[in-house]
Amino acid sequence: MERRELESGSGQLHGGSLRPVGYAGLCLPPDVTLCVLTCRPDSAALDLELLTKREQSRAQAITHAKQQALFVLGRRAARTLLAERLGVPPREVPLRVAADGAVVVEGSDLRLSISHSGNHAVAVAGFRPIGVDIEQIRPRRDGLIQRILHEDEWPAFEANPIDHVRKVILYWTLKEAALKAMRTGLTRPPSALRLDIDYLACEGVIYSRREPILRARFAEYQGYWIGVAFVPRTQTGD
Ligand SMILES: CC(C)(COP(=O)(O)OP(=O)(O)OC[C@H]1O[C@@H](n2cnc3c(N)ncnc32)[C@H](O)[C@@H]1OP(=O)(O)O)[C@@H](O)C(=O)NCCC(=O)NCCS
Repeated sequence: MERRELESGSGQLHGGSLRPVGYAGLCLPPDVTLCVLTCRPDSAALDLELLTKREQSRAQAITHAKQQALFVLGRRAARTLLAERLGVPPREVPLRVAADGAVVVEGSDLRLSISHSGNHAVAVAGFRPIGVDIEQIRPRRDGLIQRILHEDEWPAFEANPIDHVRKVILYWTLKEAALKAMRTGLTRPPSALRLDIDYLACEGVIYSRREPILRARFAEYQGYWIGVAFVPRTQTGD
């Protein structure tokens, strides 16, 4: 299994409101690459340079400043990642929003997934169904874990001695990544899936109706969990 790192710090990303980060924390299959971008919390400037006209219009229509900045950051992360893989300028990466809300790469077998939270946006791409989620590790509303867990997950969840909040947010992150890989999003309840997590290896297996359907990898990043779920190709889970 290869440890992949995408250096997203290409020249055009230095400056403006963005601070690019190369991300080495996740162990992903060889065809899967990931880009995390972080915007400075104090920056009000939106850098629309890499976006298409349509995306710029969509960004300008978002009235909530934080959501607007995260949308732009997500598209920048996706375009940066795919420009490198497709060998075209970022703005020419052919992205389209599908009817279910997912972003697809037209004319390519590459699958893309985007997530944003706090000041971060993450994009992953690979030649297989794939989903990513980023979530801040902080206490959430009561009852979240009851919504997330499958009835068969409770014993393993309770037996694991890691901090409760970290566990809850990790289940949430991995299940949301899985539901994105499946393209249902939260129209399917997270509790319909069952997760087996190996905390030491930072990986997991996701089951639906007792069948293993996806693999997951995760890492902590600046107080956030980043989780990636994907269809495995080999017995080792890659
Ligand atoms: C998909 C979903 C789980 C995203 O969760 P979230 O906490 O809002 O936000 P995240 O930042 O983690 O992810 C957002 C990204 O998920 C992607 N996404 C949206 N719908 C998706 C789907 N059905 N499958 C996979 N990815 C999807 C988008 O790229 C989106 O970012 P963008 O709007 O900037 O392009 C959630 O929005 C959901 O369940 N939606 C239900 C499906 C739906 O209502 N679709 C809208 C039809 S237009």
